[in-house]
Amino acid sequence: MLQDRLTQLRSASPAVLPSMLQCDFGNLQAEVEQWEAAGTRVLHLDVMDGHFVPNLTYGMPIVASLRRLTKLPLDVHLMISDPMAYIDAFAEAGADMLTFHIEAVADPLPVIEQIHGHGIVAGIALNPDTPLDRISGCLDDVDAVLVMSVNAGFGGQAFHSNAIERLRTLRKSHPNLLLEVDGGIKPETIAPCREAGCDLFVVGSAIFGNDDYAAAVQRLRDALQTDSS
Ligand code: DX5
Ligand code: ZN
Repeated sequence: MLQDRLTQLRSASPAVLPSMLQCDFGNLQAEVEQWEAAGTRVLHLDVMDGHFVPNLTYGMPIVASLRRLTKLPLDVHLMISDPMAYIDAFAEAGADMLTFHIEAVADPLPVIEQIHGHGIVAGIALNPDTPLDRISGCLDDVDAVLVMSVNAGFGGQAFHSNAIERLRTLRKSHPNLLLEVDGGIKPETIAPCREAGCDLFVVGSAIFGNDDYAAAVQRLRDALQTDSS
């Protein structure tokens, strides 16, 4: 189960993942139809608890609703203070990948183990100001690293360029890690992240600020192609 999920995510790379912060929660079915029509291969769900980050979004019911609406892999980004208390519930709700923040835990290894216990892909995230060596002890255990290119909590912030060097360093030291970047991704910032070895690109404003999702996603894909060719 874990291997199948990992293979599915790896085979999607490079992929643009819509971040579900600014979508129409009153009509998730229409949202899913738009994403699928735009060729989306993975969905990114931002869970915030109003404690680890000042913003508050949604929890398991939205994950479960989306699970009923689509077969696309659900990448759940946990911006919460106590990830271990909710992993079982998010697994039950239908997450395929669960990513927690290193800043939220004293020891990431039991968290990774708990996620793997459900056959789910385990990711670790770090904010731009958190030293990269904070995650060095778990890079052989985790499947994915989410390099935050903004401080977790809100969409629409400016891209922190230290993400590019971090992605490059991680790609070099751990060639098999799934690498994901999140925050301030648009056509101008996606290309250097791809060049640094990133696989999954989370995008909020640069998609949801447009009426036509497919056209916005295509502009991002074109920028990926330009750089990697
Ligand atoms: C921020 C979230 C992101 C956010 C990205 O804490 O994790 O997924 O929605 O939004 P943009 O692309 O607007 O920075
Ligand atoms: Zn996110």
